Amino acid sequence: MQIGPYRLRNSMALAPMAGLSDVPFRTLVWRLGAGYMVSEMLSSKPELWESGKSRLRRVPVPGVDPVAVQIAGTDPRVMAEAARRHVDDGVQIIDLNFGCPAKKVCRKAAGSALLSNLSLVADIVGAVVAAVKVPVTVKTRAGLLPGDDVGVQAGWVAASQGAQMVVMHGRSRACKFKGRVDYGPVGRLKTRLTESGIDIPVLVNGDIDSVNQAHNALRMTGADGVMIGRAALGQPWLFAELTGGVVPATGQKFELILQHVAHMHEFYGDQAAVGIVRKHVIAYLSRLGLQDHVRGFLSLHKSLEQLGYLQALFSAENAQPAEYSTASAVNVAA
Ligand SMILES: Cc1cc2nc3c(=O)[nH]c(=O)nc-3n(C[C@H](O)[C@H](O)[C@H](O)COP(=O)(O)O)c2cc1C
Repeated sequence: MQIGPYRLRNSMALAPMAGLSDVPFRTLVWRLGAGYMVSEMLSSKPELWESGKSRLRRVPVPGVDPVAVQIAGTDPRVMAEAARRHVDDGVQIIDLNFGCPAKKVCRKAAGSALLSNLSLVADIVGAVVAAVKVPVTVKTRAGLLPGDDVGVQAGWVAASQGAQMVVMHGRSRACKFKGRVDYGPVGRLKTRLTESGIDIPVLVNGDIDSVNQAHNALRMTGADGVMIGRAALGQPWLFAELTGGVVPATGQKFELILQHVAHMHEFYGDQAAVGIVRKHVIAYLSRLGLQDHVRGFLSLHKSLEQLGYLQALFSAENAQPAEYSTASAVNVAA
């Protein structure tokens, strides 16, 4: 699969998940074989450029190519300026968020709220495409309400304005994350683009959690690749499975988790990392059938306690993970 000039190593992408798919998680997911990843959503507002959150979300993951950043906003000129700044910083793909249903984002008429104004979608994509020389992509939902296919129109409008890839989550804005995902609109978008002679990749997204489901979604839609979000939490090795790589054995999974936790401590700073480490570790323990240990883990308030707890737990599980050391944390980042 190719986005503009960039040939991807495979068509299995990690979905952006604000607060979760940060640098430490993307480092691990890339190592486990994902073919494409984009940053967590960044505001396009210039006054937020230097906020602590924006600065961390802008950090590129070493070794990952192409470097893609997702921006959200409503004003075409502000979005174009933000895109320019990112490209000046070395970003190779700009992704526009037309899919986020979060109230905080929608109240500002950004994210999926933009689907109610297709001429603004056209203006934003047109302005950003004109502002930068790198590919511009969009991520959208199927529509505002189930069955309205507004996302199909938005995807087509974006492509007509020069977007070079469309990712579609097969749920409407109203559905948020509930109800059955519907891949129908993704297929209709792919067909409409093909019939219009627009040859850009479409990625299908929503509830893909296995190799089988990935193949089904591709077959049902004719999409060029899949994007996976929540199913990667607690089991980033899903990407190894999806891409025919070596799936780590249990002991290796324990070691990867320890390295991931150490990387989060290092990236955010010990104290700031404690909360985000909890989110990932709950997912890991649940996936590994160790959910009885979640409560104990949540009672810890210090980074060293978190690591110590996991080391003891994993040793007791007889997997004998290698000793944690700063060196192993650095290896993950390398
Ligand atoms: C916690 C969380 C944060 C998310 N943040 C973003 C985001 O920053 N940008 C975006 O385009 N989508 C975001 N999404 C949506 C996902 O990228 C994806 O479209 C959605 O989760 C459906 O895919 P899945 O079923 O594979 O998780 C987020 C989803 C979750 C659960």
